[in-house]
Amino acid sequence: MKQNTLLLLILIGWSSLAFAQKDRSLALTPPMGWNSWNTFKSKINEKMIKEMADAMVSSGMRDAGYKYLILDDCWLAPKRDSHQNLQADPKKFPDGMKALGDYIHSKGLKFGIYNCAGTKTCAGFPGTHGHEYQDALKYASWGVDYLKYDWCNTAGINAKEAYTTMSKALAATHRPIVFSLCEWGSNQPWLWAEPVGQLWRTTGDISCKWKSITEIIDKEADLRQYAGPGHWNDPDMLEVGNGLPENEDRAHFSMWAMLAAPLIAGNDLRNMSEETKAILTNRGVIAVDQDSLGVQGLRYAINDSVQTWMKPLEGGDWAVCFLNTAAEPKAVAFDWKNNVVKDSLSNAELNANAHPYDIVDLWTNKAMGNTDKTLKASVPSQDVLMIYLSKQQVSFSNR
Ligand code: GLA
Repeated sequence: MKQNTLLLLILIGWSSLAFAQKDRSLALTPPMGWNSWNTFKSKINEKMIKEMADAMVSSGMRDAGYKYLILDDCWLAPKRDSHQNLQADPKKFPDGMKALGDYIHSKGLKFGIYNCAGTKTCAGFPGTHGHEYQDALKYASWGVDYLKYDWCNTAGINAKEAYTTMSKALAATHRPIVFSLCEWGSNQPWLWAEPVGQLWRTTGDISCKWKSITEIIDKEADLRQYAGPGHWNDPDMLEVGNGLPENEDRAHFSMWAMLAAPLIAGNDLRNMSEETKAILTNRGVIAVDQDSLGVQGLRYAINDSVQTWMKPLEGGDWAVCFLNTAAEPKAVAFDWKNNVVKDSLSNAELNANAHPYDIVDLWTNKAMGNTDKTLKASVPSQDVLMIYLSKQQVSFSNR
């Protein structure tokens, strides 16, 4: 080969790595799926994950939109192999990750995996630091579609640089892989991660407590301008079905939808109650989350312990959610005509003086009249009234 041709090939190769960019066609609406961490922590294995894939299908979760099945921490063997490749724990995953990915794909689902920007994962397994391109290629060879990338054991590492390197490594595989940044909001990823990944955690870990949920909601309120199609604020995975009372589960799920949050379930799908299933698969609430305009909701008002959230939707419709954070029921009265809502972020306007909107309760699926009249309702303790406002009548079938 002539020297010039060789030089040209090297240059092309180098530039395709150096200028590899995040795939902008991925996650145009917030990713939906299931992740092993909230319920199972380190207790994951091949049999259980396959059962979960089966349950995602048989429970109707897949058909409701949940498509990524994500293994969190603790899938790895304690050491890399002799070529420094990552390998699955052979006891937990005897058939390996490629076979598991094939099984997940055969169910019409997508395969997600976890690692960490540090030297070790949070649970102490081999981290990716210094092996970014090698690990990305390995994931691509296993058919991975989603990588959650954590931030433990990163002393002395620059977050923006570390996440950018991994983003480029994923892009260089030419496999579409959603990149989920998980540095807990420590380095304000909303200010720099839009070109890097499809979602970024904004807070520390959620816990299955009402206080944790309301704290996260407060944090999200100020970050709405950073989210949009292909780049979402991630207030962490869902705790629905993990022990909260039904009203709190409903409020949690409703608010994640209002926040255009990724909907990553974290409960045991093999034995969920009918109540949990009805919450996680509520078509109308999911439609609000997945709306193609991709605008995170705004906190319009806080009166006493009732927060009024508004989310503009494609085509001029709106979702409205009254969240009662108090331990007792609260009366709500909302005069639409005296509350013209102008969202400066999306330029959407909710103006009931211009024309009426029909109102549907997204949890009962019942029509509630229109915006000509003041809305009057009682919102139960630690619960929501979540409604859909449309210029034309809509209804959502939950079955
Ligand atoms: C961190 C993350 C969690 C989970 C654990 C796993 O705490 O924020 O979501 O991935 O690590 O060790």
